[in-house]
Amino acid sequence: MSVLTIKDLHAEVDGKEILKGVNLEIKGGETHAIMGPNGTGKSTLASVVMGHPKFTVTKGSVTLDGKNVLDMEVDERARAGLFLGMQSPAEVPGVTNSDFIKTAMNARLEEGKNVSLFKFILEYDKAVSELKMNEDLPHRYLNEGFSGGEKKRNEILQMKMLKPTIAILDEIDSGLDVDALKIVGENVTKMKSKDLGLLLITHYKRLLEYIEADFVHVMMVGKIVKSGGVELIKKIDTEGYDWIKKELGIEDVRVIVEEEEEKVLLGVCATKEALGL
Ligand SMILES: Nc1ncnc2c1ncn2[C@@H]1O[C@H](COP(=O)(O)OP(=O)(O)OP(=O)(O)O)[C@@H](O)[C@H]1O
Ligand SMILES: [Mg+2]
Repeated sequence: MSVLTIKDLHAEVDGKEILKGVNLEIKGGETHAIMGPNGTGKSTLASVVMGHPKFTVTKGSVTLDGKNVLDMEVDERARAGLFLGMQSPAEVPGVTNSDFIKTAMNARLEEGKNVSLFKFILEYDKAVSELKMNEDLPHRYLNEGFSGGEKKRNEILQMKMLKPTIAILDEIDSGLDVDALKIVGENVTKMKSKDLGLLLITHYKRLLEYIEADFVHVMMVGKIVKSGGVELIKKIDTEGYDWIKKELGIEDVRVIVEEEEEKVLLGVCATKEALGL
C-alpha cells in the first residue's frame, strides 16, 4: 500500500506564491476529494506533485512511501506510481495515442524490458471498449482534434493502462456529458483497490455520486482550509462556499489578488478620467 504525504507545501511561479502550506496524506485504498473556488491552487497542487517545471517549491515536502518526490524527475515520479489526469490535456501531434501509452508503460519497466505487444493490444482494446471510445483511437495523434470529453476519457484510458498507485484526477468530470460521466465514474470506481490512492479535484457533487469519496477537503488561498466527509460535498453543493469563508474569516479565496486589484483600480481611474472626474 502506497502513502503520499504532503507537508507544509509552498510553491511559487514567477516569484508569486501560489501554494501556501498544503498538508495532505493519501493512502492506498482511500479516495480524497478536493473542492474549492476557482483560482485557489488546486491544479497547482496537482502540477507540483507531478513535478511541472514552471513551479518552484520553496518550502515543505512531498514523499511517496517515505521517498522524497521533490528530488525526482517527472518520469521517475511516474515510475514511482504517481499519475495525473489533467484538467486540460495537451495535444501532441506526431505521437499516436497507442505509442504514447506504450512508451509510458515501457518507461515504468526496468531498462531494456518492454511490454509484450500482444498483451498491450489486448489490454488497450479492452480499455477502449470499457470506456466506449472510438476504435480508431490507437492510431490517432495524442489528443489532437479530440473533443473535450474524448480528452478526458483518454486520461482515464492512460490511467487504466498505467495502473498507478496514487492517481490525481483534475476535473475529470468537466466537459463530460451525463453518459460519459457515468462511464468514467464507473471505470474509475472499478479501479479502486487497496493499492490505489485517489485524489479527485472537482467542483461538483455529481462526480462524487459515481466515485465515492472517503475524505473531502476544501482549498482556499493556496491551502486546505477545511476537511471532512461526504457531508461537506452536500453542504457545498447547496450552500456554496460563503459559510466556510465566514466561518474562517476569509475575505478573498483567490491565491493571487494583487493583479486583479490593480486592473480594477486602473479601470476605475480610466473611467474617472473619461468622465472628467
Ligand atoms: N504559470 C502561471 N503564471 C502565473 N500565474 C499562475 C500560473 N499558474 C497558475 N497561476 C495562478 O495561480 C492561481 C491558482 O491557479 P490554479 O490553476 O491552481 O487554480 P485552481 O484552484 O485549479 O482553479 P480552477 O478551479 O479554476 O481550475 C491562479 O490565480 C492562477 O492564475
Ligand atoms: Mg484547476
